[in-house]
Amino acid sequence: MQVAFYKHELTANDAQPIADVLATPFLTSGPVGKKVEAQMEDFFNVRHALLTNSWTNGAIAALLALGIKSGDEVIVPAMTFIASANVVEILGATPVLVDVDPDTQLMRVSDIESALSEKTRAIIPVHLYGQMCDMKAIAELVKSRKENIAIIEDCAHNFEGELNGEKPGKYSDVAIFSFYATKNIACGEGGAIITNNDEVFENLKQTRLHGMSAGAADRFKTGSYNHWDMEQLGVKANLPDLLAALLPDQIDKVYDRLAKRTILADRYRKAFANMDVKCISQIDGALNAQHLFPIGVDANIRDEVLTKLGESGIGATVNYRAIHTLTFYKEKYGFKSSDFPNANAWGNSAISLPLYPSLTFAEQDYVIETIKKLTAKKLEKAAS
Ligand SMILES: Cc1ncc(COP(=O)(O)O)c(C=O)c1O
Repeated sequence: MQVAFYKHELTANDAQPIADVLATPFLTSGPVGKKVEAQMEDFFNVRHALLTNSWTNGAIAALLALGIKSGDEVIVPAMTFIASANVVEILGATPVLVDVDPDTQLMRVSDIESALSEKTRAIIPVHLYGQMCDMKAIAELVKSRKENIAIIEDCAHNFEGELNGEKPGKYSDVAIFSFYATKNIACGEGGAIITNNDEVFENLKQTRLHGMSAGAADRFKTGSYNHWDMEQLGVKANLPDLLAALLPDQIDKVYDRLAKRTILADRYRKAFANMDVKCISQIDGALNAQHLFPIGVDANIRDEVLTKLGESGIGATVNYRAIHTLTFYKEKYGFKSSDFPNANAWGNSAISLPLYPSLTFAEQDYVIETIKKLTAKKLEKAAS
């Protein structure tokens, strides 16, 4: 049996909104994007949303809008995708890594507190795998400090997830999403930023588009050409309407698809409870966006299990090896693997299994049986 790692839900039926964009003058950012932004403002109950062409470019635009510069420190978890740290490096600022909770792989307030310094200008909590960091506690910590510290939520894994009934965007300066090909909501490449801060939003409109004071649609608003100025440095991070057109329907269906992934994730968790396989702990009060299904196996057999899964026709990947163990960061900062032990341990044992709404129970049972064979040793707790 072949089981793909990921299958998106887009079909030929989704081509109509793209055809509708082709019939308008705006292939780039225009009225469709503005409609999606309004849809996101409603969904998250925030004042502003701006679409971007990726999480990464959106984060660079956000860091620029927040005034993060060379010499500033930004706190980032050691267990995340490289983009969360790379955007800080790209601006010449320093990512200060912190370890994560060994059970949830999320950043902890106590680690953030220990990493704060006079140079700290931002914190990037990452809602890894669809569970949210404790944003309320992080915001309280920031409030208690005299330094001006921005909070930037990495919501690449978490569109629909909540903690204690609260969605992203409530406690942060900006929350940034990814619509990359394998995300819960996907348009190939894309992203979005939400914020309740009017000043940051005004800056973002410019830093998202070269620093220009007016985008293409706005330059011709009055019927004839209006000059634009450039007051600050920006990147090219706007999302074209051609891709934005794929988003409204997916936002409408986000909870239906979450319900399907939740059933599958619960089946995995139940099956692995009696095996020598670690699952991410479920946080009380969390609505888990169920992005990815990573398991932890004995680090000594992880790579062999990955190879054998491939040979068995099962798509599997690693999300993620710890940031400080990757050559660029290791060489630049002289990190040892043991510097962030929880991130290191998870990074050496993690395997992500197939999880998407169209995964069938038969396919999932095949994945479970294969994992069972490959990790034969039973947990002591199961034997007792
Ligand atoms: C946690 C996290 N942050 C950031 C990103 C970057 O997203 P994008 O590919 O949209 O730039 C990803 C993408 O995989 C991610 O998983």
